[in-house]
Amino acid sequence: MQNFHFILGLFFMVAATCRAAPSVSLLSNTQLDANGIFFVSYDGVVNVNSFQLSGVLTYDNWQYAAWYTASRTAVLARRQLPSGAWTDLQLPHQLSTNDSHNVIALGVSPADGKIHVALDCHSTQVYYTSSEAGLATSGASWIASRFGAITNTIGTLNVGSTITYPQFVVTPDNLLQFVFRSGISGDGATQLAEYSAGTWTNVGSWASATGTYTSTNGVTSTARNLYIHGFTYRLSKAHVTGTWREQNSAVSCSSGGLTNHDTTYFYSEDKGRTWKNSAATLIGTSGSNPVNVNTAGIIVDSLNADHGLMNQESQDVDSTGQIHAIISYVPGRFTQCVTDYAANRTSFARPFHVFRSANGTFTKMEIPFALNAVGRSQIVLDKDDNAYVVLPYVRIVTASKASGWTDWTLAYDGVAQGLNAFGEVTVDRARVTSSGVLSILYQLTSSGTTPSAVKVIDFNLNG
Ligand SMILES: *[C@@H]1O[C@H](CO)[C@@H](O)[C@H](O)[C@H]1NC(C)=O
Ligand SMILES: *[C@@H]1O[C@H](CO)[C@@H](O)[C@H](O)[C@H]1NC(C)=O
Ligand SMILES: *[C@@H]1O[C@H](CO)[C@@H](O)[C@H](O)[C@H]1NC(C)=O
Repeated sequence: MQNFHFILGLFFMVAATCRAAPSVSLLSNTQLDANGIFFVSYDGVVNVNSFQLSGVLTYDNWQYAAWYTASRTAVLARRQLPSGAWTDLQLPHQLSTNDSHNVIALGVSPADGKIHVALDCHSTQVYYTSSEAGLATSGASWIASRFGAITNTIGTLNVGSTITYPQFVVTPDNLLQFVFRSGISGDGATQLAEYSAGTWTNVGSWASATGTYTSTNGVTSTARNLYIHGFTYRLSKAHVTGTWREQNSAVSCSSGGLTNHDTTYFYSEDKGRTWKNSAATLIGTSGSNPVNVNTAGIIVDSLNADHGLMNQESQDVDSTGQIHAIISYVPGRFTQCVTDYAANRTSFARPFHVFRSANGTFTKMEIPFALNAVGRSQIVLDKDDNAYVVLPYVRIVTASKASGWTDWTLAYDGVAQGLNAFGEVTVDRARVTSSGVLSILYQLTSSGTTPSAVKVIDFNLNG
């Protein structure tokens, strides 16, 4: 008996010492459409973009997905979780142009159970519709007539005519918000609107194009936009990381580079009205005094515009309220001047995990897996704050909180598994939170404009 206990003790000691990075296990892989629209523009495919909030979304015990089919029609699908069959409906809207920015974004307003859809814009007017009340939870038949007419306003709110990156987020007190950019790349503002008691109202711009940036090579630029890695509510705060994209291309060492520089962080404790930097100093007020490039104390990782830094990767917030972001660029050991961002990122770019500790320190750690792609990665955290990063082509690398997020391990290799995914994917963040399942919307790679399958692959996260 004593021996048995000794051996049991040894076993647990060994198990504890060998505690490894989390694994994932494949639950299912389902085809949504054999013929999704396919074309590559701006290195991306319109159905699967890193910045989509959300292209696939769980609310209550239903999951929703959206994409454009080969006829250009916007399709919305629904299934009952965990394993119901997908049902489609077609919205009366066709993708207006072959531009990968023009994604479909889904949201649900908890107060009335309406499903909101914003789509098909790139510095143009947005298209928007919302469903009848209760559709998100009623399970009523899935037919397009349950959605209202498509408008160029958000409800009755006029958001202007130069909209990009529509995203829906839900506040801690269950209001739906709409995050978007007005203006254009290199000269744009991030904006916020809010849905309350059935009406959309403007909150205002919270990061503007103004201010002056001087690059390491001494060039100044007087306009830009903040590209965000996400807009994430957790424990009553909204957290935003991002990177600035300068208008003056000469801030970069090469015209073939990207003018993105630095990683910023700030947060709001009042649903996006006012903003604080990591040191808790008030730095901005939406509408009247938005954050800009000269705002103090918002850069948490400095990087000049010479490294092909990507915009709009992803972020999550852990259970203690600390931000975690993924950024990617070509590290200096490969070159100090990216001259062709697409080629050089594909050869050399690495993802980095940037996270805040409770004492306010930011740590940046290189994830030891190459991107082998131009595009972006997605980070999600499980309930125990272990990290899962979906690299291009659905390669999932994981790291445990217990290791301080240092034990990066390849947990699933979509390349070795023959998924044949186009690089970038979009993920269902709500489902990770509600049930610890990671659903990834991906599309098969193709060539030219030959349509390809749109799929959802699901994994259990084994933290
Ligand atoms: C970046 O890509 C360009 C175009 O392919 C190439 O000429 C250049 O050598 C690359 N840079 C490095 C550091 O390899
Ligand atoms: C802040 O916390 C981190 C993580 O616990 C630690 O590594 C770091 O040394 C701390 N920094 C300071 C300045 O206390
Ligand atoms: C846009 O993509 C479609 C395929 O979806 C293709 O048939 C069409 O030629 C493309 N248009 C342009 C202008 O490239």
